[in-house]
Amino acid sequence: KKRIFSGIQPSGELTLGSYMGAIRNWVDLQEEYDCLYCIVDMHAITVRQDPATLRRRSVNQLAQYIACGLDPKKNIMFIQSHVPQHAELSWVLGCYTQFGELSRMTQFKAKAKQHADNITAGLFTYPVLMASDILLYQADLVPVGEDQRQHVELTRDIAQRFNSVYGDTFTLPGAFIPKMGARVMSLANPESKMSKSDPDGCVFMMDKPEDIMRKFKRAVTDCETAVKFDKENKAGISNLLTIYCAATGKTLAEAEAEFAGQGYGVFKPAVGEAVVELLRPLREESERIMKDKAYLESVYKEGAEHAAYLAQKTLSKVYRKIGFVAK
Ligand code: TYM
Repeated sequence: KKRIFSGIQPSGELTLGSYMGAIRNWVDLQEEYDCLYCIVDMHAITVRQDPATLRRRSVNQLAQYIACGLDPKKNIMFIQSHVPQHAELSWVLGCYTQFGELSRMTQFKAKAKQHADNITAGLFTYPVLMASDILLYQADLVPVGEDQRQHVELTRDIAQRFNSVYGDTFTLPGAFIPKMGARVMSLANPESKMSKSDPDGCVFMMDKPEDIMRKFKRAVTDCETAVKFDKENKAGISNLLTIYCAATGKTLAEAEAEFAGQGYGVFKPAVGEAVVELLRPLREESERIMKDKAYLESVYKEGAEHAAYLAQKTLSKVYRKIGFVAK
């Protein structure tokens, strides 16, 4: 069976973007593949986090994974910091990654701009830790949104470089990116990605229906009237169409036909309704599971044990190949 690895940072609440770009696909993959889904708390501390909030979000994120349909019996779900092999492999791989490569990462450049007063070594080496996450488990596929493609490509380059020096060690992973919803844009500024750092333009998985409706009704569009997909000239409407299609399963042509001749005043609330209905069951189920702390603890503990077993196999192999003395 092919192996899948993916993760999300508990650095904010889960968004419609992370659901459509990532989690939704994880749910489809769980039947056919061996999957590991991680809560990457070590990545989250590359920018400052409030400790109590980070702890709460990490556990709540697991509840949300389960509420989205990920079955803890079919997938390994765990918290990154519980498996020390991630940090250990990360050190090694950092010694096989060029400064120049990391300098070219667009997420680093964007975050360095956003957190100009706190550009840490961790923020810079973040992609090496991500490569370790993926390579530790010999993952074949990494289901992520478009913004993570570059990191997965770097992971592949690092793996290839290591393999060419030491012989076959790591499986070369590929990004698995959805056709619809791979890059959900901000509702307030459709030129930039929907992200948790822009609450006005961002729909959160746990938002109440009235908040979702308000955000969609206020979504920035253009001064025309036609509901047509045209990314260049109608970024806002194109984004709303994509969200509508991803939420309802309709094609772009079907959606355009449905709203032909109707104005944005009809279209925008219709997209809002579709998203409300998509998220409602997830929010209700998340709230229910979040209350069961004992259950969540049993899931992440068992997940970490299982993950660590797999991770250690790879780490031992790597240590042997690079010349570390066996314990
Ligand atoms: P993160 O936490 O920023 O985002 C989690 C996942 O959601 C996707 N995503 C989006 N997809 C579509 N439209 C959007 N607006 C949108 N916003 C977020 C992301 O592409 C991602 O798949 N570095 C990763 C976390 C990570 C990871 C890994 C992923 C750490 N180790 C190993 C895969 C494998 C990140 O920052 O994702």
